[in-house]
Amino acid sequence: MFLERMNSKLKRVLVPGPLIIGAGPSGLATAACLKEKGVPSLILERENCLASLWKLKSYDRLRLHLPKRFCELPLMGFPPEFPTYPMKEEFLSYLEAYAKHFSIEPLFGEEVKSAEYDPTMEFWLVKTGSSEFVCRWLIVATGENSEPMSPEFPQISDFKGRVLHTSLYKNGTTFKGQKILVVGCGNSGMEISLDLCNSGAQASVVVRDTLHILPREILGRSTFGLSMWLLKWFPLRLVDRFLLFCSWFILGNTHRFGLRRPQIGPIELKNTTGKTPVLDVGTLAKIKAGQIMVVPSIKRFTETGVEFIDEKIEDFDSVILATGYRSNVPSWLKEEGFFSKKDGYPVAPFPHSWKGENGLYSVGFTKRGLLGASLDAQKVAKEIATQWNLEMKHLQTDL
Ligand SMILES: Cc1cc2nc3c(=O)[nH]c(=O)nc-3n(C[C@H](O)[C@H](O)[C@H](O)COP(=O)(O)OP(=O)(O)OC[C@H]3O[C@@H](n4cnc5c(N)ncnc54)[C@H](O)[C@@H]3O)c2cc1C
Ligand SMILES: *[C@@H]1O[C@H](CO)[C@@H](O)[C@H](O)[C@H]1NC(C)=O
Ligand SMILES: *[C@@H]1O[C@H](CO)[C@@H](O)[C@H](O)[C@H]1NC(C)=O
Repeated sequence: MFLERMNSKLKRVLVPGPLIIGAGPSGLATAACLKEKGVPSLILERENCLASLWKLKSYDRLRLHLPKRFCELPLMGFPPEFPTYPMKEEFLSYLEAYAKHFSIEPLFGEEVKSAEYDPTMEFWLVKTGSSEFVCRWLIVATGENSEPMSPEFPQISDFKGRVLHTSLYKNGTTFKGQKILVVGCGNSGMEISLDLCNSGAQASVVVRDTLHILPREILGRSTFGLSMWLLKWFPLRLVDRFLLFCSWFILGNTHRFGLRRPQIGPIELKNTTGKTPVLDVGTLAKIKAGQIMVVPSIKRFTETGVEFIDEKIEDFDSVILATGYRSNVPSWLKEEGFFSKKDGYPVAPFPHSWKGENGLYSVGFTKRGLLGASLDAQKVAKEIATQWNLEMKHLQTDL
């Protein structure tokens, strides 16, 4: 399928169809949608497995945060026996089966180091350590979470204990009996605090900012599903008020535990800033019971712990950074305009974020999870298939 040529040291590979970078859910969904329309594609993946974020960088107790029907990839649903919130292993087995079903075989161990458009040839040149790939269409599916983010805290190098990012956290067994500081209170930070607590560790969680914490279910329905449904009928602000009322009714006043809510409601905040509300899976009950502590921002580290901004000093054995991830696109994509150099996301807001110039596309950068990725994948595949079929027709009449 590929024309190959040795060029000095780099092997040159001509890819007839689109080239996809990243074999996570976004890349797989795109390859499947293209395949269904008769367009061959090639995926490059830096790791040696599919969905490396889920397989290599996530904790043992991770489940999908949203109910399964909002997390299915296009063209092939989850097996009916999957629970409402599939476990990481189940989700991974689904992705393996998905790739197999659509005969998707990524090239593993190929980390893209640079990608640049050549306007005279009208091709993208994509370099990995060993090869140079030449293609007409380039689809960026490297994810919103491709690099762990570890902010520099004052004097963190003085700290003698262990510091690790959530991407390296598996379970609480090695932390039993320890005092742990979890920095960051998104879904991962909250869930890992709970995991630590359940494993017999004493966890404190740093809550720097305001946040929305919502029950995962309201009236027996998933909060996410219920919100989506209500938004079809009611204005956003009304739905937000309803969600806040239900949260107050179910969870009580979270302010009392140091968890202050933002001025703006949860859906409006998500829509305007992309900040995801925390869906509570039991952490709040532990906070209420005093088994997980809420602590303020860190002022600086000491040899044995931290000083907080309220000047209290406390010792900790280990620190877990639940400080999130970022996109790595600016580090390798040589292009102006489509992707922001600042945050590595497409500049155009949803729903216009999937299409750039010169055959450049993005899938999975909408801050809308797997559902957003599936929508992107379908749009990208549809458009490329149209171009592909036109070219094939020309080719046939020309020959
Ligand atoms: C803990 C956690 C829980 C989540 N839970 C949910 C959930 O329940 N529901 C939901 O909808 N979303 C959830 N998400 C959001 C998450 O972003 C998606 O689930 C999904 O993994 C995104 O898929 P993706 O393919 O866009 O990115 P990824 O899964 O990150 O895949 C990108 C792939 O690209 C590869 N790559 C990166 N850079 C390069 C390069 N330069 N060259 C080659 N390959 C490269 C990576 O190795 C990776 O395999 C969760 C995220 C996290 C961190
Ligand atoms: C915890 O993680 C370690 C690897 O870090 C693993 O060997 C062990 O089996 C896990 N424990 C449990 C209870 O799952
Ligand atoms: C989100 O905000 C945009 C404008 O920024 C608006 O057009 C859109 O309707 C909002 N989404 C919802 C669900 O209200």
